[in-house]
Formats: sequence, structure tokens, C-alpha cells
Amino acid sequence: MDEIVLKAERMFKEFGSTKAVTDVTLELHRGRVVGLVGENGSGKSTLSSMIAGVYPPTKGEMTYKGQPYNPKSVLDARKAGIQYLTQEQGTIDGMTVAENMFLGEEDEMSKAGLVSIRKLNERSRKILIENGLDYVNPIKPIEHYSFEDRKMIETARSLSHQPDILIIDETTTALSQKGHERIYEIIGEQKAKGTAVLIISHDLEEIQKLCDEVVILRDGKYITTLYGEDIEPQKMRENMIGREIKGSYYRADFECSYEDEVVLEVKDLGLEGVFSDISFDLHKGEILGIGGLSECGMHELLKTIFGAIKPTSGSVTLANGNISLKNTTVSVKNKVAYIPKDRDKESLFQATSIKDNIVTSTLDKLKKGIFILPKSEKKIAQEQADKIEVKMQNIEQMVRDLSGGNKQKVVIAKWMANDSKIFIMDCPTRGIDVGVKAKIYKLMDTLKHEGISILMVSEEMMELIGMADRIITIKDGRVSEEFSRSADLSESKIISAIV
Ligand SMILES: Nc1ncnc2c1ncn2[C@@H]1O[C@H](COP(=O)(O)OP(=O)(O)OP(=O)(O)O)[C@@H](O)[C@H]1O
Ligand SMILES: [Mg+2]
Repeated sequence: MDEIVLKAERMFKEFGSTKAVTDVTLELHRGRVVGLVGENGSGKSTLSSMIAGVYPPTKGEMTYKGQPYNPKSVLDARKAGIQYLTQEQGTIDGMTVAENMFLGEEDEMSKAGLVSIRKLNERSRKILIENGLDYVNPIKPIEHYSFEDRKMIETARSLSHQPDILIIDETTTALSQKGHERIYEIIGEQKAKGTAVLIISHDLEEIQKLCDEVVILRDGKYITTLYGEDIEPQKMRENMIGREIKGSYYRADFECSYEDEVVLEVKDLGLEGVFSDISFDLHKGEILGIGGLSECGMHELLKTIFGAIKPTSGSVTLANGNISLKNTTVSVKNKVAYIPKDRDKESLFQATSIKDNIVTSTLDKLKKGIFILPKSEKKIAQEQADKIEVKMQNIEQMVRDLSGGNKQKVVIAKWMANDSKIFIMDCPTRGIDVGVKAKIYKLMDTLKHEGISILMVSEEMMELIGMADRIITIKDGRVSEEFSRSADLSESKIISAIV
């Protein structure tokens, strides 16, 4: 069954002076799962986008099922049987679920030139049910649903016509455990049906588990393809970065260390139907980890602590000055930073420059008298962007033109520029490549030693064990256990406290 479905040959894509993809050849075969890995900005989404009809290549040729293939649009590619689940939100605000599901296919469903809304809704409902999304109402506006639900609706749509090629771009890391598993299930089913699958992910263990072969890109260029035994995280990492990674990835010490001073007090915090009775102190210079399954309430907990959601009970108080964090304005003013899990949507102005995004939280610092000095604005933005290695042309570039992982970095840079004293981080390394991940861990360690406190939610147990002084686990919206940093803390100990 080694039939080639698609061959993309000697592909190039340039955006102005950026060479996003340079001379890459890729083959997709029936019933084979191919992984596409590389650092942030290495060209993975660009290559997929050309296959999926988002934009044409600058140069290169594609053959699909033996015929020359030049999709004019995403719809064109979809009609031909190529489905692309993008890294970002793939559904459109202002339309219903059903309209999103049949976007561009209305002609098939129209009766005497009119789309039958009833038919549209009925078919949507059927597809939703087939995909375990019984709770989604096709006539509701799509905004009514969470990022995860929207991704699953998009997934259901992509499978409503059996695809020949399914491309999944960094989707799993944005989803809960349940969402992951559903995607893995789909990949298995599609493979069995003979679909050619292309999957992009920074979770190298996931790639190892799922893929038959792995193509590695670096700086837009093809590096190598790994097969069989060679598909393992260390080999992939080396090829992605082009050198061995030495030294420890996480914190080197195994001491639980922080100062006695309490900086943030969370007391009996509750949010009806989500979490309850949550109490803990965050200390100066402490990295406090919170672990749990994605749906245990921990993401909402962080949002509530930051003041973005009003709790139904309890309080969040900054010990210094006894200030209650009752809304986000108070939090930002008091140097509390929040890095959400869903960064694209919650904290970036896509149509604005990198510089402006970084300096939005720092206006105080820049105001001398009442004037903002454009020079210092530039300097601060440049410094922070460099510190975390945002891959960009320059700081005037629009955020929307950055690769997914580089957008995430801009959010982190933005909060660093604000001299924050407390960092609330929700899955800070989601979607970020291994090299920069190591940098973020180093940065967290440096911040800790400068007396800054970090409250971090993570779904990666190794990240919690590797970085936190204390770990609080949450199960079904309640604290289930607390662990102190130590050399013999194991992943299984924590997992047993969260499931
Ligand atoms: N529309 C665009 N305009 C200008 N530059 C772009 C555009 N899209 C992508 N780029 C640039 O092309 C390069 C490759 O980006 P791409 O999105 O393909 O990376 P990626 O490998 O998917 O990274 P990530 O893991 O962060 O998602 C980056 O330098 C990015 O800034
Ligand atoms: Mg990408």
C-alpha cells in the first residue's frame, strides 16, 4: 500500500525578505502518518498552507493523485480531498456552527438557488453527533463555544467528507486530555482508511508515538527524514537544532527554596461548578506549580486569580498592601502578569506590530512626564524580543505574520517588559520549540532568584517536577495533594493525585 497521494517538489515560499520555505520536497503516502517537526518559524505551517491552498508557492510543483495540483483556495483544496486543521482558530466568528461547517458548500445543498437552512442544520447535527459533539447546537453562533469545542467542530467538519489527506497543525497541545485522545483516535482511524496524514507538533513524544516517518525542517530547509527506531526525541531535537543540547534542561537543583514572605494569598476561592475551597500562599521567589487534567478547573482558577473571572466565593489578596485582586486592571497595575494558555486570542493584537504588542503593558514605564518617548519604546521592545529570541524581520513587523510559536514568545516578552513581580503562567511552553523551551525555563529560574514569584499551571508533569518548588494537584476542582520539590518526586506520584 505504498501509493503516493501527494508530492510537493522543490517548494519555495518567500514573504518579502523572509525565506519561509526553501527547496523542500515532501511526499505523502496512502495510510502513512508523517510528522513534520522543526523549531518555531522553521516553515512547517507555511509548507502545509501551500498544500492546503492557503496561498500558492513562490516556486515549486505539486502533484496530487498523479495530476498537477495548484489549489486556488482552501475551499478548492477541501473539495479535492485535502483537509487542514490549522494551528490557529479555523472557524469564523459571526456565523453559526452549521454555517461554519458548510462554508463554501452551500451550492451543493441549495434548492432553487436558496440554501435550505433547515437542511444545513440537520446535516450539521448529524455530523456533530457522529463525532461525539451531541452537546453542540448547530444554530448557535460559533463564538458561543470554547476554543477546544471550536477545534473539535472544525475537526468534525474536516471529516464530514472522507479526506485523502489530513493535515493537523499543532492542534493537540491546545486541547485537553480528552481532546488529545480524540485526535489520536482520529489519526488511527484515518490511517486505517488509507488517508495520508501529516501531523505537526512540538510534543516529540507524541510524534514518536504516532508517526511512521518524520521530516525535519530547519530555517525553512529540509534536513532529513527519520524512520523506525530513529524516531525518538533526542534525535529529532538534534536535527531540529543542528547541535546536541547539553546540560540540564530544567532547574539544576532539587531544593525547595523560597523566602518566608508571602506575596499572594488565595483563600477559600471558589467558582460555582468549576472549583471550590482553593487556598494557598505564594511566596517571594517561589515557583508554585499547579497540576491536573486540563478540565479539572485549573485554567479557570488562574484566570480567576488574575481577576479576569469573578469568583463566587473567597478572595485573592496581594500581601504587600493588602490589595484585593478584584479585576485585571488592579492586577496589571500591581505588577501581576498573566500568560494565558490560549495566547493568540486572549492577549495579542494581531494587526499591530510586535513592538506595540510588547509595550502595551509598559506604558507607565515609558511615560516621562506625559510624553511617551518613541525611542525608549523601541529599545524596550527590542531588548525583550531579543531576550526571548522572537524570530522576526524587525520589531515593526505585524504580529499576525509571525509563526505560531513566535506569537507565544511576544506575549511572554510583553509581560517581561512590565517588570512584573508575580507571573501567572498557564502552560507557558505550549507550542514552543525545545530550544526556546529551555530558554524559558532558564528565564524562570533567573526570575525566581531575583525574588519574583511564579504561579504556573502545566499539563506536563515533567515540567512541574523540573521547575516547581511546590506542586499543588487539583482533581475535580479541589486540591488533592501537595508535593515539595525533591529529587525523587516521580511523574507517577503526581499522576495518581490527579486522576
Ligand atoms: N504571512 C506571512 N507574512 C510574513 N512572514 C510570514 C508569514 N507567514 C509566515 N511568515 C514567516 O515565515 C517563517 C516560517 O513561519 P511558519 O509559520 O511556517 O513557522 P512554523 O514552523 O510553523 O513555526 P511554529 O512552530 O512557531 O508554528 C517565519 O519566519 C514567519 O515569521
Ligand atoms: Mg506553525
